[in-house]
Amino acid sequence: MQINSFKQYQETYKKSVEQPEEFWSGIAENFLWKQKWNNVLSWNFNEPDIKWFEGAKLNITDNCLDRHLIENGDKAAIIWEPNDPEKDSITLTYRVLHDRVCRFANVLKKNGAKKGDRICIYMPMVPELAIAVLACARIGAIHSVVFGGFSAKSIADRINDAACKLVITADGAFRGTKQIQLKEVIDDALIGCPTIEKVIVLTHTRTPVSMLKGRDCWWEDEIKLVDANCQAEEMDAEDVLFVLYTSGSTGKPKGVVHTCGGYMVYAGYTFSNVFNYQPNEVFFCTADIGWITGHSYIVYGPLSQGATTLMFEGIPTYPDASRLWEIVEKHKVNILYTAPTAIRSLMGFGLEPLNGVDLSSLRVLGSVGEPINEEAWHWLDEEVGKKNCPIVDTWWQTETGGIMISPIAFVTPTKPSFATLPLPGIQPILVDENGNEISGNGVNGNLCIKFPWPGMLRTTYGDHERCKLTYFSTYENLYFTGDGCLRDEDGYYRITGRVDDVINVSGHRIGTAEVENALNMHAGVVESAVVGYPHEVKGQGIYAFIIYPSLSKDEDLTRKDILQTVTRVIGAIAKPDKIVFVSGLPKTRSGKIMRRILRKVAEGDTTNLGDISTLLDPAVVQEIIEKSGKI
Ligand code: PRX
Repeated sequence: MQINSFKQYQETYKKSVEQPEEFWSGIAENFLWKQKWNNVLSWNFNEPDIKWFEGAKLNITDNCLDRHLIENGDKAAIIWEPNDPEKDSITLTYRVLHDRVCRFANVLKKNGAKKGDRICIYMPMVPELAIAVLACARIGAIHSVVFGGFSAKSIADRINDAACKLVITADGAFRGTKQIQLKEVIDDALIGCPTIEKVIVLTHTRTPVSMLKGRDCWWEDEIKLVDANCQAEEMDAEDVLFVLYTSGSTGKPKGVVHTCGGYMVYAGYTFSNVFNYQPNEVFFCTADIGWITGHSYIVYGPLSQGATTLMFEGIPTYPDASRLWEIVEKHKVNILYTAPTAIRSLMGFGLEPLNGVDLSSLRVLGSVGEPINEEAWHWLDEEVGKKNCPIVDTWWQTETGGIMISPIAFVTPTKPSFATLPLPGIQPILVDENGNEISGNGVNGNLCIKFPWPGMLRTTYGDHERCKLTYFSTYENLYFTGDGCLRDEDGYYRITGRVDDVINVSGHRIGTAEVENALNMHAGVVESAVVGYPHEVKGQGIYAFIIYPSLSKDEDLTRKDILQTVTRVIGAIAKPDKIVFVSGLPKTRSGKIMRRILRKVAEGDTTNLGDISTLLDPAVVQEIIEKSGKI
């Protein structure tokens, strides 16, 4: 199923548009099914109601584990590199991984989990995280992985939204020089989570934890009480595989739902093609499994293709800025998939960290999560790839399940900062504000997709109407991505950023409304408005304008207090980079905040604020400009 030439790409693309069902059923034949489908696709974007491979039966773990055992049982499935480079790395072969997943699947069953139950996973980047994910899939339980940087309140909201029954966690996590007390955070979260019956705790950092009788048990004790025989549960192609929460325009994160069959086919197909993965290569995706990139390109995509996937627990700058490169050298990484923010941050350390490190194993480089600026693209190309590795700038989203618009390595001619062309099966279209198609080249518009693909979301957990409203109602009969996009003279796509109230901080999606809700919870904050602004390393930073009438002399202390509140309510990733205290916000007579003005001020461009005469009190603008100039 790999595409090897540009001509083949063009032919494949044409076929995928003209005969999508034939195309995708052909791809699906490369996977292991317990029973084949009766119908490849039925769809309706108005409901929305999308079904792929209806009637088919499968278990994704048969594809990620069992089917590799005969020929590749001794091949490395997961290589784990710990936070501390002095500690040993660990390799799990497919046989060992299969054994551990089956064993832990039995632990889940023993603790009352069954098909359809929701299980929250809050763990460090250790092999047991992948094992927990796969064990859920093995028994047909729905995993909801929550990134280790989220606060107790964020976890509780996610657990309650999906009515999870179990939590899988660890005592703690290492991140550079820091230790994060995961179990403690879970304990705080569970005060408000009545549906949780059991908590399984992995020993990792060996920090003291409190274990609640009847509710909490140790991973290490539990696995001794079960055997390693666990038949994979038979799942319908459209049964839910997982829920993953992501931010949108409103204050409440939504649980994006992916199903077993389509997601598997899409993650596997895109992994194999985009990166041109070859047998025995080592694939290193630097994301965390708490995000969709980790789900699709650390766990399911690579393992479904029998690949070796490298999991890294730490951060690129610990113990120093050569860490990523040393990992590449140590494990002879062939494909490195990372984020522009990581590249920009490493660029800041100059070339010294690259000196003397052997990067010759690298063959393909990938970027994901946010637009990659030309400078970072060239640095990656020249200093890391030595002008010898294609860069795949992959555009996609939590909702799309896998890569959508991207070069195919060694196939698609690349262009810095362009995601280039749609993958086979993907039909992008640009529309104007009214939903009219903008055809031709050399145009800008809102990016939509007009035909379903197997990896697309099916609903948002527990609230189908919200899925419809968010993605399928803005423009009739189209999936709306929320991104703005340029199609240049060559028909190449360049994503220009979000056109909604979502900001992309270091490749993490954060809703401005979510941050505002958190800020407004702080005693003293009367009102707030949050916008994104260009940030050299993070891509976008968070800029908050806050009305705080009882401000003391020590403004900085108040700022720190407010940041504490945001950390407590959402997590450290949502902390504003800049806070300006103002006495009013620019509102229209109907009370709507004119964010356009705030965005301009945050960008530092106050020369051209446009028409401010419709504001209730135009004088506030002057104050905002002055105060923001002072921080
Ligand atoms: O704005 C786009 C940006 O990230 C958003 C999706 O975020 P999330 O669901 O967290 O998934 C991130 C990893 C797939 C998109 O709406 N984005 C993602 N990849 C790119 C990108 N923007 C520009 N170029 C990309 N390659």
